[in-house]
Amino acid sequence: MKDNWIPFHRPSIGPEELLAVREVLESRWLTTGPVTQQFEREFAEFVDCKYAVAVNSCTAALHLALDSIGITAGDEVLVPSYTFAATAEVVVYLGARPVLCDSLPGGFNIDPADASSRITPKTRAIIAVHIAGEPCNLEALRQLAERHSIHLIEDAAHALPASYAGRRVGSISELTAFSFYATKTITTGEGGMLTTNDETRARRASMMRLHGISGDAWKRYSNQGSWYYEIVDAGLKANMPDLLAALGLAQLKKAEAFHLRRREIADLYLRRLSRIEELEMPPTGDVNVTHSWHLFILRLRPEMLATGRNDLIHQLKQAGVGTSVHFIPLHLHPYYRERYGYRSGDFPNAEDAFTRCVSLPIYPDMNEADVERVTASVEQFVQKNCRRMSICAS
Ligand SMILES: Cc1ncc(COP(=O)(O)O)c(C=O)c1O
Repeated sequence: MKDNWIPFHRPSIGPEELLAVREVLESRWLTTGPVTQQFEREFAEFVDCKYAVAVNSCTAALHLALDSIGITAGDEVLVPSYTFAATAEVVVYLGARPVLCDSLPGGFNIDPADASSRITPKTRAIIAVHIAGEPCNLEALRQLAERHSIHLIEDAAHALPASYAGRRVGSISELTAFSFYATKTITTGEGGMLTTNDETRARRASMMRLHGISGDAWKRYSNQGSWYYEIVDAGLKANMPDLLAALGLAQLKKAEAFHLRRREIADLYLRRLSRIEELEMPPTGDVNVTHSWHLFILRLRPEMLATGRNDLIHQLKQAGVGTSVHFIPLHLHPYYRERYGYRSGDFPNAEDAFTRCVSLPIYPDMNEADVERVTASVEQFVQKNCRRMSICAS
């Protein structure tokens, strides 16, 4: 089985990444330094923004984004329930309250109308998450933020490279956070980037990622640095080391090619699986957007099938196909139920998506045979379990 196993994800690592990491090791400068600075410059150029601040996770980038706009105890921040833990926990780190919002009907992304209904005098910001890499309706969210004088932050953990109305995600809103976690569209193992066009926010994030020490603290051990430093705030330890930035630079050079291959795989899935009535395809976004296809989230139509998502996952596993589930909505987790009183039923669209979704493998190293095996296994599941007598196997 192991040889035949199609993992849910496998990062594409080639000789370029190995060489880049080796060069850093040989330089003997392992932590934040010139390679990280180069990664920041090239990333900013790639997404077409003024400033990029490299950190050790997207979680840290989100934390620094909220810090840079001054989120503090007593504030409220709107966050979709349909997201990963990181998007909301950073609000809690700062003593503020995450106010959960529902997804669009039939979709995954935050519903601007639902978000609007949850705004109070304490609301200071909204975090939009581009689930799977499908850009949110940023125009509606921008208008909402403007109308209520609140900040719009993008959690773009899934959205490199994605674009909205002809602009790359990362260049549009006040602050955008990216992830380079092992499963993401480009990876440094662990890592993240905060992008902004605002110099003051970039400076604050840059300082707060390294203990709140002023100036170029990372240089203090180099021949251009000084031993003297001043702590001006209680910062984080969230800087990106050169070792990982080297990986990031090598991956960034391949980001377009990776994206092209992801699109091809998504197209193959869409062509084959959209013919099956029992399945619902992921939203591909508005006309004027580019989907990054970080994830391909398939949904079942349970009323047309004798069994559900968990059985599909089990049967795909038996067929040697790894899958995942994105996401268990936050309001269903013990922490959010117990601390904030959320209950199942509170966000029906998010729950509907969760109960019938499964994420299929999608990554550049998959070959045609892999894609064929995944689609054939899904088709077999439907044939075995569908309620339509004409196409059922038994
Ligand atoms: C939507 C979303 N936001 C944030 C994160 C956090 O990313 P990181 O692991 O780089 O902190 C993830 C991670 O998977 C994610 O899926």
